[in-house]
Amino acid sequence: MEILRSVKELREFIASCNGEIGFVPTMGALHEGHLSLIKKCVSENCISIVSTFVNPTQFLPGEDFESYPKKEESDIKMCELSGVNAIFIPNGREMYFENEPKIKAPEKFANILEGKTRPGHFDGVLRVLTKLFNLVRPTRVYMGKKDAQQVLIVQNMVKTMFINTQIIPCEIVRESDGLALSSRNVYLNDEQKCHALRLSRSLMNASNLIKKGELNVSEIKACMLNTLEPLQVDYVAVVDREFNEISKIELGNAIILVAAYVGKTRLIDNLWV
Ligand code: PAJ
Repeated sequence: MEILRSVKELREFIASCNGEIGFVPTMGALHEGHLSLIKKCVSENCISIVSTFVNPTQFLPGEDFESYPKKEESDIKMCELSGVNAIFIPNGREMYFENEPKIKAPEKFANILEGKTRPGHFDGVLRVLTKLFNLVRPTRVYMGKKDAQQVLIVQNMVKTMFINTQIIPCEIVRESDGLALSSRNVYLNDEQKCHALRLSRSLMNASNLIKKGELNVSEIKACMLNTLEPLQVDYVAVVDREFNEISKIELGNAIILVAAYVGKTRLIDNLWV
């Protein structure tokens, strides 16, 4: 496996590639959730590339950019063992310039839910992904449904900006107790991990209600808020795949989302129904 640290090295590697390229963009500190994307990528493409870059422009002042977990050695090992062809580990100076166009995520998607609490976050995500997509020129990009709003915003960008790649949304990987894997779970102590289970449990309860035929969103939200108590809830929302809030679930076209704080750690989870 090639370890590439500069844009120049990445460009040279891409120029030497023959065949379809699959790409998994990450911020490192890889866990089983990332690994499921990486394995799918390796199985479906001739060449697989993973990037691990903690992207400064998607963090707001006061967020955890400085303390974001870093595990470079194990990231490299995990990619190597999974059959990845190259890992791209740039630093901020490689990726950003003093003067460059700024990309803005469309207001409709970017100012609600995650974007409401984290204004500018999706601008930073699109900015770095534009650069990465231009460098890697992947046939397929693997992204987790865990970040539902992110995957839909990126799909919208690829479609509307005529970027020649396919975004593949991948299933959420969970601990056996239901907790969605996240690099930020390392911030949780044992007691907080127990509290964090309320997020996945609230979605499970919503799913059970839906299985019983309840499609009314206000009933579903009320049940979820009950399960989430006493956590500080940022939002519970039910949207369609265009991110319009809906009042009645249409099966096959709805996403139920939750964001809540466990201590100081903000966690998100969702269910595609
Ligand atoms: P990061 O949080 O490292 O996540 C990288 C990819 O892994 C994302 O597509 C995310 O949805 C996916 N992922 C994370 N946890 C997952 C889980 N439990 N199950 C399945 N997939 C999971 O998302 C980012 O990085 C950044 O915003 C990035 C797209 C790299 C741009 O900087």
